Amino acid sequence: MPESTGMNQSQLSRSGGPVGRRALLRGATLAAPAMALLPPATATAATATPPRFNPHDWRSVRNQFLLTRQHAHFAAFMLASHPASVRTAITAVRNQLDTYPERYQMGLADIELGARARAALADYIGAAPAEIALTDSTTMGIGLVYAGLRLRPGDEVVTTTHEFYSTYEALRLRRESDGVVVREVAPYDDPAAARAEVMVARLLDAVTPRTRVLAMTWVHSSTGVKLPVRRIAEAIAELNSRRNVEERILVCLDAVHGFAVEDIDVPALGVDFFMTATHKWLFGPRGTGFVWGRPEAWARLRTTIPSFSIPAFVGWLTGQPPLGAPGDLHSPGGYHSFEQRWALPEAVAFHRAVGRDRIAAYTHAQARQLKEGLAQLSHVRLVTPRSPELSSGIVCCAIDGLSAEEVVTRLRDRHRILAGATPYRQSYVRFGPSLVTSPQEVTRVVRAVAALR
Ligand SMILES: Cc1ncc(COP(=O)(O)O)c(C=O)c1O
Repeated sequence: MPESTGMNQSQLSRSGGPVGRRALLRGATLAAPAMALLPPATATAATATPPRFNPHDWRSVRNQFLLTRQHAHFAAFMLASHPASVRTAITAVRNQLDTYPERYQMGLADIELGARARAALADYIGAAPAEIALTDSTTMGIGLVYAGLRLRPGDEVVTTTHEFYSTYEALRLRRESDGVVVREVAPYDDPAAARAEVMVARLLDAVTPRTRVLAMTWVHSSTGVKLPVRRIAEAIAELNSRRNVEERILVCLDAVHGFAVEDIDVPALGVDFFMTATHKWLFGPRGTGFVWGRPEAWARLRTTIPSFSIPAFVGWLTGQPPLGAPGDLHSPGGYHSFEQRWALPEAVAFHRAVGRDRIAAYTHAQARQLKEGLAQLSHVRLVTPRSPELSSGIVCCAIDGLSAEEVVTRLRDRHRILAGATPYRQSYVRFGPSLVTSPQEVTRVVRAVAALR
């Protein structure tokens, strides 16, 4: 019985009719050989000689990536390049899938290998595997949460004016289908001057007796502002303590630009749902992500996409509603790009080897250096706050007389520096120092921006 099904003895016996038991057994026996087929993390299928990995040496960390040496990669956090161990694992699984696809049919191998991915993530974020649903992206997690929350017409969702498109679109769809009211609040006017207490107060002021959801983003990809999530969640928890369970406000977080940058256990943030990709700052397999939810929060979410979990199949075969761990029941089923998903533990292992705390410190130190350098330049307006409490890895700025796109093009063509232009109505230049950049490259960025007069 795979642990990840989260079924207890009575659930098992309920599902233990002939069909249910057969299905369970099939799951267990098909998954086992698949597990055996996976190579150890150190196998060398992807590169003949992977570079020696010393997790305590940042150059060695950087050398694990195939990222071109022609450029400094300050936009690498958006769509991950994979370190050698992840490439190796992906290649090995893909080879198995190409060689013996029938061994992986029915998605049953994913029960075992998906559980391995969930266990690795759970360990990394300090939560239980049963509370984690695997997704393919942040957007998929956002869609599942905002489509699935049990809301009535007239119930309110408070959100901010700085969400990424995926949140707005998911909430628009919900408004159209169920008459949910969406209220947008500006948590700050000038991002560089954002203050935690003002952000908390503005969000709380927007809450009414009909508010059921607070939909927000940890680190705004439009400005680099990091919301004081814990303080906001604490204030909401205080309000919730005076409400009936079904009227409590659920705090839902698009966490993608804080995850794998900030050194914090996810449950300690105080939110109810945490949606992220693992293909950004974790540098995990492209097309992977997860939703973490508190058990009480999962209880308020309907399933949108049928899972391929044992409890869901057993429920279907026995004509009963499925009983199982929320992470099983809410992980969208169907076949996935399994070579990516099953390589997730390697991405977590890589990150852990370097150290969650060291990565946070390295990223913040580069961001600080970059902001200090940019702040010295009279033609540059820093958009991201200087304080590490209100910012993370993302650093945004505007440059006099040049559009963000023009800056990005010049940095790339003249200085071999890759940055981004934020995809929002007000577009800024965006840098993301990370474990694939270095303080020396930050110095290069500041010099290059200085030369853009
Ligand atoms: C804040 C934010 N949320 C979500 C996304 C989308 O992430 P994903 O590609 O994992 O859906 C992005 C950008 O890609 C983003 O900036």
